[in-house]
This record gives sequence, structure tokens and C-alpha cells, in this order.
Amino acid sequence: MTKIAPSILGVKDEDLVSTCTSLLNSGADYIHFDVMDGFFVSNRSFSYSVLEKLKKALPRAFFDVHLMIINVEQQVDKFIDAGADLITFHYEAVKKENVIPLINHIHQRGCKVGISIKPDTSFTEIKAYIPYIDLVLVMSVEPGKGGQSFMMSALEKIENIFALKILNPYLLIEVDGGINALTGQLCVSKGADVLVAGSYILKSDSYKERIDSLK
Ligand code: DX5
Ligand code: ZN
Repeated sequence: MTKIAPSILGVKDEDLVSTCTSLLNSGADYIHFDVMDGFFVSNRSFSYSVLEKLKKALPRAFFDVHLMIINVEQQVDKFIDAGADLITFHYEAVKKENVIPLINHIHQRGCKVGISIKPDTSFTEIKAYIPYIDLVLVMSVEPGKGGQSFMMSALEKIENIFALKILNPYLLIEVDGGINALTGQLCVSKGADVLVAGSYILKSDSYKERIDSLK
């Protein structure tokens, strides 16, 4: 069954615990926690201290941490210490020779690992890492902000990555950006396992209705 990861980007700090509680009670599988540093993308968002508070309040929730930052190696331990269950870093932000050591480091610290690729990055660039990771995050918008339109080019990428599951049958394919009932269904039809949705879920009166429509 498709897993749903609502993005809490844009939720006010004081509302985070109550919003995450409602999302989990409405059937959310993961909480998608977007981290932006103002360098990898121009906006800034949550720091590790926000994650730490959320994990303390909701210890059983699964935190899917999407790092849209440049200094991944220097920052990653703070997010693991804060309670990340899955760390997804951007392939474009890490030197090639550091990718495998970074994957190993995150795994050794007991955390799952994902690699994300921007719309212009080919799936072939990350093929070599697929046997060693838990998840690929396909960006279906340019990372940096919520509320953008889904890029149809993501569908072919999902299909191509799905074919690479032969290298790792446990690999999950997650899609992020412009997901709604229609685009979500298209992604699932190509092999997506996890759908991230920000505005579609959060800008609704009924989280449950929206989550159900994606499942
Ligand atoms: C975009 C973020 C997304 C974003 C999704 O850079 O990574 O997680 O919050 O928002 P929607 O679903 O509104 O496109
Ligand atoms: Zn994200």
C-alpha cells in the first residue's frame, strides 16, 4: 500500500506538535521534515532543534528528513541525534567520492538513508548507489518551496528507477512536489511507494479525506 508523507513545511512552530498529531491520526505514515539552508535552495526552513522537540513529543512517529542543504557531512549528525528515522540528502550537494562514506556513516548511526535527485539530474547518476540505500526521492518540482506544479517528466524517472529495483528489491521510491490525487495516482502507476504532499493535505479542512484520496 502507498505510504503517505505529509510535508509540514510552512506550519508555524507553535502548531507543529498538534498538526503532526492530527496528521498521524488521519493515517499519515511518515512526517516529511524539509530542511533548507538558504544555500542549496534560497529559502530557509526548520533546524535540527525543531526536529528534536517534535521527536520528544511524538517518539513513535517516523521522521522522514529531507536535507536541502550543502554541508551534509557536517550537519547530518545533528539531525540523527535529533531523532531522524530516515535521512535523505541531495546527490547534487555531495562530492562523488563522499557518497558511499556518507551512506555508510548514516547507516552505522542506525538511520535509514535516501538519496534525492532534482528534476534535471538523471537517474543514471545514482544507479551505482541503489544497492546501498533504502530510498530514492524523485523531486517532481525544483526543490525550495511548496505549492508548485508537478513536473510530468518525473514519471519517466520513476519508471526507470522502478526497473532498477532488480538491484535492490527493498528500495522505496518516494516522490515530492505538486502531489495531489491525480498526480499521486500517476506516480503510483509508475511504481512510487511513498508520496510526499504538502499543500494538498495541509491546506485542507480534512487531512483524513486528502490522505485517503492519495492511498
Ligand atoms: C519542496 C519540498 C516539498 C514541499 C512539497 O522543495 O521538498 O516537500 O513541501 O510541497 P507541495 O506538496 O505543496 O508541492
Ligand atoms: Zn521535501
